[in-house]
Amino acid sequence: MEKEKKIRIGIMGAGTMGNGIAVISAINGHDVIVFDNNTQVLEKAKNESIKAIENLHSKNKLQDKNPQEVTSKMYYESDLGMFGICNLIVEAIVEDLTIKQVCYSQLEQLVPDNCIIGSNTSSLSIASLSSSLKNPSRFLGIHFFNPPVVMKLVEIIPSLLTDIKIVVQVRDLLQSWGKTTVLAKDTPGFIVNRIARPFYTEALRILDEGIADTSTIDWAMKEIGGFKMGPFELMDLIGNDVNYKVTESIFEQSYFEARFKPSITQKRLVEAKMLGKKTGRGFYDYSQETQKSPNTDRKLGAKIFNRILAQLINEAADSLLYGIATKEDIDLAMQLGVNYPKGLLKWADEVGIDNIVTQLKTLLDEYGEERYRISPMLKRMAARGWKFYM
Ligand SMILES: NC(=O)c1ccc[n+]([C@@H]2O[C@H](COP(=O)([O-])OP(=O)(O)OC[C@H]3O[C@@H](n4cnc5c(N)ncnc54)[C@H](O)[C@@H]3O)[C@@H](O)[C@H]2O)c1
Repeated sequence: MEKEKKIRIGIMGAGTMGNGIAVISAINGHDVIVFDNNTQVLEKAKNESIKAIENLHSKNKLQDKNPQEVTSKMYYESDLGMFGICNLIVEAIVEDLTIKQVCYSQLEQLVPDNCIIGSNTSSLSIASLSSSLKNPSRFLGIHFFNPPVVMKLVEIIPSLLTDIKIVVQVRDLLQSWGKTTVLAKDTPGFIVNRIARPFYTEALRILDEGIADTSTIDWAMKEIGGFKMGPFELMDLIGNDVNYKVTESIFEQSYFEARFKPSITQKRLVEAKMLGKKTGRGFYDYSQETQKSPNTDRKLGAKIFNRILAQLINEAADSLLYGIATKEDIDLAMQLGVNYPKGLLKWADEVGIDNIVTQLKTLLDEYGEERYRISPMLKRMAARGWKFYM
């Protein structure tokens, strides 16, 4: 890539993510070409980006630029050929392997040989996506979080064939925009979507067992754990369809790893179109002014929180063991990608790794299920009295 400020960025797909990535690119001084195969979406995206930029300006969040200066850098094109003058393409089209692969084959015929191609995929394998390219070494995962203008974290995912030089170039570029990048192995769910699974699945399990209702579990995670949102509020916000699909995809791609097993309760909600806030009803009924009050018994709350936290830490420790990311990147990713109050490995040190192992052992003994299998990393650390951070 040429000098950072000069590179021209092409965005493929003008939906929620593509348009947000386009805005943040233009704010950072790049000429941006946005393409979508739906011209109505393209028109809507153009109007929305103008509004978003005005709105950022009114909040003094436009880095001393005026809105016209930023919008004048954005070109909404229905002609894919315009990507022929780009140095970096970020693809943010529909999450479908075949559609994305077809799109890359078309792209490769248009873009310069040294143009980097990145995908914003949340769940597809970077290696399989890149297999449709003649030159897969120019391809990598660039996973922004929603909304891309606000969320600081970007996961960078090279495939086995990615040229390390482009990993460095893309990280440097994003860091120059003030983003925090973390490096993830090409594994299902990368860092955040993988490690966050127990936040939802364990909460659903506690609900299914009748240990507590949704509002009590949400209360426990916020009040005792310090999380900004409870698991059920968050699933309703994300959309139960989206959240369920991510869990199912990670479960299937991990050869049916028990720890990622989706919940039938959530599936039934999806089938009933109780998708959450967007349909007015999910775990909660948003037509009601007030929701059911939680049981604020702190002993029960602590039991719920400890169980979910232990499962989250278990996943974080296993991700470290399997080299999915460094301990620093795991902790940063969970704080910046899903707003966790602390990094999970740091949290394990504070709570005591031996306490986490005891908690997991109790669950394993009681249920005898694979999902409570203790990470060997935690067992070894506890046996040696070690901490993740000195
Ligand atoms: N929404 C999120 O919270 C989120 C977060 C991180 C990553 N992602 C990933 O980002 C990608 C886009 O997600 P989104 O939520 O912005 O989706 P979206 O549905 O809002 O937008 C996708 C856009 O792609 C366009 N499109 C579809 N096929 C196309 C093609 N062949 N050529 C050009 N345009 C095409 C559609 O018209 C649509 O405008 C997906 O891979 C998704 O997994 C989404």
